[in-house]
Amino acid sequence: MCGIVGYVGPKDARDVVLEGLRRLEYRGYDSAGIAVVADGQLSSAKKAGKLANLEKLLADQPLPAATVGIGHTRWATHGGPTDRNAHPHLSADGTVAVIHNGIIENFAALRAECESAGVEFTSETDTEVAAHLLAAAYAAAPEGQGRLAEAMRVICRRLEGAFTLVATSAHEPDTLVAARRSSPLVVGVGDGEYFLGSDVAAFISHTREARELGQDEVVEIDRHRGLSVTDFAGNPVEPKSYTVDWDAEAAEKGGYDWFMLKEIAEQPKAIADTLLGRLGANGELVLDEVRLSDQDLRDIDKIFVVACGTAYHAGLIAKYAIEHWTRIPVEVEVASEFRYRDPVLDRSTLVVVVSQSGETMDTLMALRHAKDQKARVLAICNANGSTIPRESDAVLYTHAGPEIAVASTKGFLTQLVACYLVGLFLAQVRGIKYEDEVATVVAELRELPAAVAKVLEQMEPVRELGRSMADADRMLFLGRHVSFPVALEGALKLKELAYIHAEGFAAGELKHGPIAVVDEGTPVVIVVPPRARDLLHAKVVSNIQEVRARGARTIVIAEEGDEDVVPYADHVIRVPRTPTLLAPVVTTVPLQVLACEIADSRGLDVDQPRNLAKSVTVE
Ligand code: M6R
Repeated sequence: MCGIVGYVGPKDARDVVLEGLRRLEYRGYDSAGIAVVADGQLSSAKKAGKLANLEKLLADQPLPAATVGIGHTRWATHGGPTDRNAHPHLSADGTVAVIHNGIIENFAALRAECESAGVEFTSETDTEVAAHLLAAAYAAAPEGQGRLAEAMRVICRRLEGAFTLVATSAHEPDTLVAARRSSPLVVGVGDGEYFLGSDVAAFISHTREARELGQDEVVEIDRHRGLSVTDFAGNPVEPKSYTVDWDAEAAEKGGYDWFMLKEIAEQPKAIADTLLGRLGANGELVLDEVRLSDQDLRDIDKIFVVACGTAYHAGLIAKYAIEHWTRIPVEVEVASEFRYRDPVLDRSTLVVVVSQSGETMDTLMALRHAKDQKARVLAICNANGSTIPRESDAVLYTHAGPEIAVASTKGFLTQLVACYLVGLFLAQVRGIKYEDEVATVVAELRELPAAVAKVLEQMEPVRELGRSMADADRMLFLGRHVSFPVALEGALKLKELAYIHAEGFAAGELKHGPIAVVDEGTPVVIVVPPRARDLLHAKVVSNIQEVRARGARTIVIAEEGDEDVVPYADHVIRVPRTPTLLAPVVTTVPLQVLACEIADSRGLDVDQPRNLAKSVTVE
């Protein structure tokens, strides 16, 4: 939520910052802005709407060339998406510019304090207080090197909430200062140049060398003195270095119309990469990076899976698999609810937090609550160096590569695969499953990339179907067992991309109420379990007949060779035969393609749907 970019170095900061904003626009697109310092003068420009609006403004009214600059792309929280509320925000004397991601929770009191000192505010944002406070703290700080950084530390000690702040000042034209508490910020280190970004995509075309910033830290980047990091009290901190394991090409559309299409197509590889190195030659699992001891894993008597949105749906599917394989009770919970209901947690509870971005604030807060209660926390995450894995006891990275489209696709499938690995690993360590049983599932996991590739080869009829449904105004998704969360995921994809009201139901629940909304022509997607699940399969076939009898247009996802569904289906989408617990990996794919195609046919921005942002860093 909100993209932040900063640059210090020999290149033209305007170009570097704008390029970074283009790459981070998926984090928020309500407005964009930029500030540079040139010849001791601070200049800025900002505009509501997508980055293209700012670019147009800059083409008409260019900023001066500079070697230090900051940029921001916004997802509005406090104050509407207007020009005035766009970042950067300037201090009253125009010497300091600040960009911000997060929420300053005590901004009202701080604003009142500034106003009583005579400051006139020009926006409705919480951010603007930071600009005014920073200018005042700068004036009060001792003269000499590091004055802006000291002023930043002073104000950070007063701010409550979550924030990444980046500031530039006309007084220190070669310096950028940034701070972070619970919101993301990484530093890129190039040859004589430095970058700041909400994530590494901001600077990946310039460098893959990154530094992680910890909680409550301030970084000062000076063109001559380089990089230094302290905590909010001013104590020096050594930032952790890492090399990003993907390159700029991975963050390009690569010939696809939408990032989402590219990411859907990348799913076989993403799954294969997530399995890579984790399946031993004899069919055993090798999860060395899970830093919990075997004894810790044996002591677990309860598991929570906690996540948001699509990641939560992965958790719902994980419950079926983990309980089945380990016989440990699993609860799945939406992260934003978790800590507020006082869940029963202790040392023998394992909390699995699932997050593609590793920055989702609701999930992060749930993680912290779990740790406060002494539970063990294992993160399943796609973003190396992000906050959630850093604060967890153990981590299993998915290797999906960068996911740019706001709607999660390869993130979801790789989360599923990682959840399967966790379940199987627990069963292996605890001796619940015999080696050959683990080996059998491992062999099935190895088949998944090919199975997904096969689904993708057969998507043309699904695209056609999607194009024929551009005018739909509502849609239902039904499934049972592991296909129930798949139905939820199908409905979420359609809502967020095509703005069509959609709901997912456990198919058996339909008769308890929701079937009342089905009438002539209502599109109903039914995800049918494998035929091997006799009883369940027969019941879902009955559910198809029930909605069809009420006039529904039935779109049925069924495995190859399942002829039982044919008489009741207006459209059949085939997927390869896959074992029941793993089937969501293949049955989700047509739902992603369908939602994408419907949204595209409606002329919508598939990658950046309205009101959303990729990484939700506010609670
Ligand atoms: O980065 P995370 O996996 O923590 O994100 C969680 C949700 O915000 C995310 O899955 C969201 O629901 C997606 N837009 C769904 O496509």
